[in-house]
Amino acid sequence: MKKKKNLIPTIFVIFGGTGDLNKRKLAPALYNLYAESYLPEKFSIIGTGRTHFEENQYREMMRENINQFSRNGEVNPAYWERFEKHLNYAEIDIDSPQTFENLAQTVNGLKEKYGPDTQMIYYLAVAPNFFGKIAQSLHKHKLTGNEQTCRIVIEKPFGNDLESAKELNLLLSKIFTEKQIYRIDHYLGKETVQNMMAFRFANSLFEPLWNRNHIEHVQISVTEQLGVEGRGGYYEDAGALRDMIQNHLLQLLCLVGMEAPIRFNADEIRDRKVEVLRAMRPFKPEEISSHAIRGQYSKGWVEGKEVLGYRDEDGVDENSNTETFAAIKFFIDNWRWQGIPFYVRTGKRLNQTSSIITIQFKDVPHHIFSNKAIESWQQNRLIISIQPEMSIRLQVQAKRPGLKMALNPVDMVFDYHGTYDVGTPEAYETLLLDATYGDQTLFMRGDQVEAAWELVMPIINAWENNKSISFPNYPADSWGPEEAEALIAKDGFHWFTLPLKNK
Ligand code: BG6
Repeated sequence: MKKKKNLIPTIFVIFGGTGDLNKRKLAPALYNLYAESYLPEKFSIIGTGRTHFEENQYREMMRENINQFSRNGEVNPAYWERFEKHLNYAEIDIDSPQTFENLAQTVNGLKEKYGPDTQMIYYLAVAPNFFGKIAQSLHKHKLTGNEQTCRIVIEKPFGNDLESAKELNLLLSKIFTEKQIYRIDHYLGKETVQNMMAFRFANSLFEPLWNRNHIEHVQISVTEQLGVEGRGGYYEDAGALRDMIQNHLLQLLCLVGMEAPIRFNADEIRDRKVEVLRAMRPFKPEEISSHAIRGQYSKGWVEGKEVLGYRDEDGVDENSNTETFAAIKFFIDNWRWQGIPFYVRTGKRLNQTSSIITIQFKDVPHHIFSNKAIESWQQNRLIISIQPEMSIRLQVQAKRPGLKMALNPVDMVFDYHGTYDVGTPEAYETLLLDATYGDQTLFMRGDQVEAAWELVMPIINAWENNKSISFPNYPADSWGPEEAEALIAKDGFHWFTLPLKNK
């Protein structure tokens, strides 16, 4: 977390102020920032929603949400008393100009109180079909401003395909400059994900090895035990490819694949990342079935509880063709990575919740040990575990203690919990703070989003035009469809799960 405290008067307007994201993430994050004195005394949060709430009802609801979802547990009554005075509610109907007029009055009243340098941060935590309308209404009611005084934060999904992402970028660009637009990919705010920049570019040890000469392949695996959790309506139109790969997993891939930036600066870093996306090999239609695997879960048992199959979830079509699992083999066509496969996979209702990046290095050029000594031989691997375990492991071969020469792989481990005794901020704390400082490093630039859509569009189109006849094709609590194993096995590899501790 940054040391500097933001003292610029700030008004946050949260569209979706009664929604799930605000309840679980935004309200707890803002409260924690306030409790740690990262927000000025001159600040306000205006939650907005369609339902009518009295101010005190809304405050009470937020208090309950924070108690339930904050990483720090229940609110401290003394802080809460101060914090709740900054919390307001405005009823907004997106189709009603009058409600925006009311909002403008509230905002102008606060601005008068706080002074001319007050900054506005509009957070759009609503369904994507409202993004454009809200931006236009803000503009129409003179609620927008310049780069110093006004920013807009847009939740994902940013578009539903390349065309809609371009349209949204165009619409926003008529109202805001790129410096005012903060497109969220919450993975970029995760502590372990931010650490990837430090790991790669603050250590001289790995860079000489970080290329096709030494790396054999890369895996990025983000698996979830949860199902769609009441979001069937949204998920039906999204699926794993749009929901996770187009954004989160491709961003992780960019962090592994990018060249070294010249300096730690938002545009410099985003330039290097977008170069990776542009260098990625486009899929030819005939390659899709051998490079991209999809799956959908059927019912099963997770930790002793029976769970529904995807097609039986609320809001889901009983013949749904939406994928809840996707595994893809990508290539980056540049000097550093030519010929090195990047396998990514993600899915819901899988056997484990874990996000890990595995870099597998090439084998030694010549084996000197007997076959017996190297029965459990494994090439060197670097495993970056993003969550729930937060660690970096370097797997090396070692001689097992004993009278015989027998080798086995052991882990050299950097583990956050064992190394630091400070808490880890939630991704949304980091991202909200960065938005208030005007730091766009961890936000998606318009061209990045479009480049990511461009890459996945051939797969989306192929899957939409060619329904799967095998769905559902994996049971809950499994590792996904067998074809996903075959995707990687045919190249001689297998998917890694969290490595065992040193034995
Ligand atoms: C969201 C997706 O962006 O990320 C969800 O819409 C997914 O479907 C979630 O569950 C995963 O985030 P995290 O932080 O729990 O890994």
